[in-house]
Amino acid sequence: MNMKTRFLRDIEVSEVGMGCMAFSHGYGKIPPEEYSIEAIQGAYGHGCTFFDTAEVYSPNLSGIGHNERIVGKALAGVRDDVVIATKLFLRVGPLGNAYKTIRKHLEGSMERLQTDWIDIYYLHRMGGIPVEKVAEAMGQLIDDGLIRGWGLSQVDVDIISRAQRVTPLAAIQNIYSMVERDSEKRVIPFCMEHNIGFVPFSPIASGLLSGKITTETKFERNDDVRNWVPQLSTANIAGNQPIIDLLKEYADLKGATPAQISLAWMLHKYPGVVPIPGSKNKERIVENLDAVNVRLTTEEFVSLEEALNRCKVYGHRGLGGF
Ligand SMILES: NC(=O)c1ccc[n+]([C@@H]2O[C@H](COP(=O)([O-])OP(=O)(O)OC[C@H]3O[C@@H](n4cnc5c(N)ncnc54)[C@H](OP(=O)(O)O)[C@@H]3O)[C@@H](O)[C@H]2O)c1
Repeated sequence: MNMKTRFLRDIEVSEVGMGCMAFSHGYGKIPPEEYSIEAIQGAYGHGCTFFDTAEVYSPNLSGIGHNERIVGKALAGVRDDVVIATKLFLRVGPLGNAYKTIRKHLEGSMERLQTDWIDIYYLHRMGGIPVEKVAEAMGQLIDDGLIRGWGLSQVDVDIISRAQRVTPLAAIQNIYSMVERDSEKRVIPFCMEHNIGFVPFSPIASGLLSGKITTETKFERNDDVRNWVPQLSTANIAGNQPIIDLLKEYADLKGATPAQISLAWMLHKYPGVVPIPGSKNKERIVENLDAVNVRLTTEEFVSLEEALNRCKVYGHRGLGGF
């Protein structure tokens, strides 16, 4: 099945990608590996060609590479037809030779992902590292043919513009959803102006915008980020109910689901945006990919946007911190 595509600079990807993190970390109990592999292959079979992982995605963030190994196994047979993005995490401390340090991380990721190249290689967090050094090293890795493009995550325009001057970026991956809109102010306009792709992570606000989470929902005790996602405290779930009601209204209107409307909203709003919703459930993965078939008219988009702008958002994570 073919899906319409978009470009992250010169890298062509399906309009909606897939966040693979939850097969290893972040949303409680992880599925058996076989299920995760089938789910990723199912997404590919449904037209998804863009897969997101990171070297640190392992149970409880302890250890390296659990998620990359799963993604590698799932996509080994179709490697030439997919775009794989992964991220390196640099611990605080002296960087030394940036090229050598980053290349070592990259080689580990390539081995786990069973590939000779990475399509998009992100720095996961800045952590006080001079971005110019990273940008220069990434430029060398592009010249080496080991990565096709590079990116940054959770950054504002000051960092992006400094990096862009050294080695043009393929993509910025920031938190972005109907309830996390900081990147609208400066980051997305800058990306659009400079032909940098924008990849929203947590585009469904960790499940809130699916309408399936209520004040009664109990999150898991172990390795579940929903225990601290600001919009998901009991009080804030209740406070954000008008946004969920709005999504349900449009879902009824369009014969879609609230999660699909939240994705269709950002797809309509910006041409260079490619969300990577995450799910460890095969049916929901397909549901999210099918958001590409929910096309809002300009009129529908404008009234949805205006109604959203009238809603107060309870809870804010933003670009700083974790
Ligand atoms: N760069 C970074 O720092 C960073 C940080 C976080 C995440 N990421 C990337 O972004 C990807 C997505 O982010 P995310 O997983 O945190 O947030 P998300 O996509 O906004 O939400 C994931 C949560 O929503 C639920 N969900 C997803 N689709 C649903 C649907 N259609 N109906 C009902 N519930 C649904 C999932 O539950 P089920 O599993 O039960 O469906 C899961 O609990 C990750 O996989 C990862 O690759 C990057």
